[in-house]
Amino acid sequence: MEILGIDIGGSGIKAAPVNITTAKLIAERHRIVTPEISTPDAVAKVIQKLIQHFDWNGPVGCTFPAVIKQGIIKTAANIDNSWIGVNGEELIHSKTGCKTLLLNDADAAGIAEMEFGAGKDNKGVVIMHTFGTGIGSAIFVNGQLIPNTEFGRLEIRCKEAEQRASSRNRTEEGLKWKSWAWRVNEFLARMEALFWPDLFIIGGGISRKHDQFLHLLKTKADIVPAQMLNQAGIIGAAIAAGKIHN
Ligand code: BGC
Repeated sequence: MEILGIDIGGSGIKAAPVNITTAKLIAERHRIVTPEISTPDAVAKVIQKLIQHFDWNGPVGCTFPAVIKQGIIKTAANIDNSWIGVNGEELIHSKTGCKTLLLNDADAAGIAEMEFGAGKDNKGVVIMHTFGTGIGSAIFVNGQLIPNTEFGRLEIRCKEAEQRASSRNRTEEGLKWKSWAWRVNEFLARMEALFWPDLFIIGGGISRKHDQFLHLLKTKADIVPAQMLNQAGIIGAAIAAGKIHN
């Protein structure tokens, strides 16, 4: 089965059709820059363009950097506030005619890693974190996702973890790898004290550079880089949509 996966990120909105049995992209990924003011209308226009680009009329799976309940956006930490309360699935469906599943971006990336990547066949407690503009989280028990966890909100030193240890913090504050890893360790230690995972998977754009920092991360659980890199969101969204459209 083929599903169009769309990944809405802070800097780019990317899409590709995915064969969900093999998790392979069946056409080259297409990316359009995220509108500076990323209101529902502006983002929906970009999604229309992506769908036209692939001449697509089948099902769509789409990631979104927020809590999503029954298609409705519930939070807006790093996106325009006007998204709150919008039914994103209905919005995309009404603009494109494509049946759409919307899900949290880290959940989607986690699904891809659990089914085809770094978490494949792991039956324990697995926590995936994406480090980007924010910190995304997805937790799996025996391969089963508990959706919409927001562990980036954990308060550390009077701030949300994602305001101290995201990839954006590293670049904006000019942190050396060691200083950034120190903050990430503090966050992961809190996660371990609460959940005692068997495995951490570290994803997000920064996972491409894991040779710079992974050896600096000290956890009791095993810790590995994500394997699907910048395709995890697209693939995971398509897999998740495939499950409900089947
Ligand atoms: C959002 C999460 C999202 C994460 C990564 C956070 O700011 O609250 O829902 O998964 O960023 O994009």
